[in-house]
Amino acid sequence: MILIPGPASSELGSRIALALGVEPHPVEHRIFPDGESYIRLTTPVEGETVVIVQTTAPKQDQRLMQLFMMAGTAKGLGAERVVCVVPYLAYSRQDKRFLEGEALSLDMVLGLLDSIGADDLIVVDAHSTESLEKIETEHEINVHNLSAIPLLAKELKKIGFEGAYSLSPDKGAIHLADAAAEILGGGSGFFEKFRDRTTGEIEMKVEDLNIAGEKAVVFDDIISSGGTMARAVDGLKVLGAEMVAAACTHALLMKGAKEKIEKAGADLIISSDTIQDCEDLVTVSIAPMIADALKSLK
Ligand code: R5P
Repeated sequence: MILIPGPASSELGSRIALALGVEPHPVEHRIFPDGESYIRLTTPVEGETVVIVQTTAPKQDQRLMQLFMMAGTAKGLGAERVVCVVPYLAYSRQDKRFLEGEALSLDMVLGLLDSIGADDLIVVDAHSTESLEKIETEHEINVHNLSAIPLLAKELKKIGFEGAYSLSPDKGAIHLADAAAEILGGGSGFFEKFRDRTTGEIEMKVEDLNIAGEKAVVFDDIISSGGTMARAVDGLKVLGAEMVAAACTHALLMKGAKEKIEKAGADLIISSDTIQDCEDLVTVSIAPMIADALKSLK
């Protein structure tokens, strides 16, 4: 197996290589003055299973293009199997036409990877498992969707959140809270989120939960602007929760998001390491889980 950490996941790629006991083979890369990417593989790949690790957090388009270049080059140079580990899969939230005429971007990303020659795609907490599975059937590529939520819950249990209530800030993400509740105990539930499809504005209906004086954790797949998480944390605090943690798999944390969530009253923000450069948070590594998934690929 040849493991290639891409430019967006040099650290995670090295952690996965370490967990697998293989040498990482980082690519040579640079960005030209006009913004285009240069990519060169630094090791022969002919006849090999090549694993490319590249998350696609901002700058998404650049990261995706680099991923396409690495996967396509590996296949073009004779790799037998190309496995793309893309912990955060950009464009996953546009998995349906919510308004007429919208682009189905998730379908396009999968279609491009497929046509470039990627054989497998490993993602973590895909935004909608259902949509991903449906779109997968229209392409040859095999998609493996793993979850970091049990890892986050185990870490939270260790650091004082055993017995905490697990909340998802949206009905569609209740499976995240349910999975966490199996580890934390303390039950699970959701608030309802409504998004204005034109303005992007959200509203949240806070259920009347009996959690005064208790601990609670909000679990979401992504924190981007922080608006969703801040509203859920605030709702729990208003209900009297004593300690509230904000947990997510993908800490995109755009400018001001962390401050917004802290201002809402979060005592802790925790994420996985699907996205590089969020080292000032409590972070749990997905590397051993990815290594296990790679070992068990048929
Ligand atoms: C949306 O459905 C996702 O699950 C997240 O709740 C959302 O992407 C978070 O975005 P933001 O942090 O901008 O509210």
